[in-house]
Amino acid sequence: MQLEEGKRVPRHVSIIMDGNGRWAQERGLERVKGHLQGVASVRAALEECADNGVEYLSLYAFSTENWGRPDDEVNYLMQLMFKSIMDELENFMANGVRFMVLGNRASLPDILNDSIDKAMEMTAGNKRITMILFISYSGKWDILQAAKHLAAKAISSGEGESWLVGVGEKDFSSLLVTDGIPDPDLIIRTSGEQRLSNYLLWQGAYSEFYFTKVLWPDFDRAQMKLALEEYGRRDRRYGKVK
Ligand code: FPP
Repeated sequence: MQLEEGKRVPRHVSIIMDGNGRWAQERGLERVKGHLQGVASVRAALEECADNGVEYLSLYAFSTENWGRPDDEVNYLMQLMFKSIMDELENFMANGVRFMVLGNRASLPDILNDSIDKAMEMTAGNKRITMILFISYSGKWDILQAAKHLAAKAISSGEGESWLVGVGEKDFSSLLVTDGIPDPDLIIRTSGEQRLSNYLLWQGAYSEFYFTKVLWPDFDRAQMKLALEEYGRRDRRYGKVK
């Protein structure tokens, strides 16, 4: 399902996957069944993005705040991410998908971290599209860890405050976990909520936003295509006039 020829394609699409719990509740199912169904939507979004030449697809899979959900749901999500990564590995290799995880990896269970390491190593040379899962991530956490790094560098420079004078936005960006990854051109949020929820606060400074009422488990390839088409119609000015 390719876009019309000549349409502007976002280089980096990022998605806040929302509405899994509501999708399940509407069907009288347990909330976690919505997460399970949500994995199929991840596959659909990845396929549609890859077919249209998107270079990076990132997904907010588990926020720092999500640790506050009931233990059963947190454990289910950790296991689902482990199982999905292992199940999709063959598919990633067959389709040229480079897989990455960004976030506070130290807080994740060992079994999940081992599967992430394996998938990242195996797919490191794949070139068609990069898929990033943000796990145990929040924008404020990312900015804070970068600021701490910067402070440590200033101290070890021996010059203190005068060393900081030369630090620019690019230097700061390189301390965020997204170092080397282009900022998202398009941020999609499903399920009708219209907020950023502590997601890519620094990196999303000039992102276009696309909100849809569709719940994440119902977000299929046709929905992804609609979002890409809408992006093609946006006029990006980055604070300037055209
Ligand atoms: C938000 O819905 C969704 C999540 C917190 C988890 C999404 C994670 C996945 C679908 C797993 C993807 C993993 C891989 C490896 C592909 P919600 O629970 O906040 O829904 P609600 O707002 O209706 O309650």
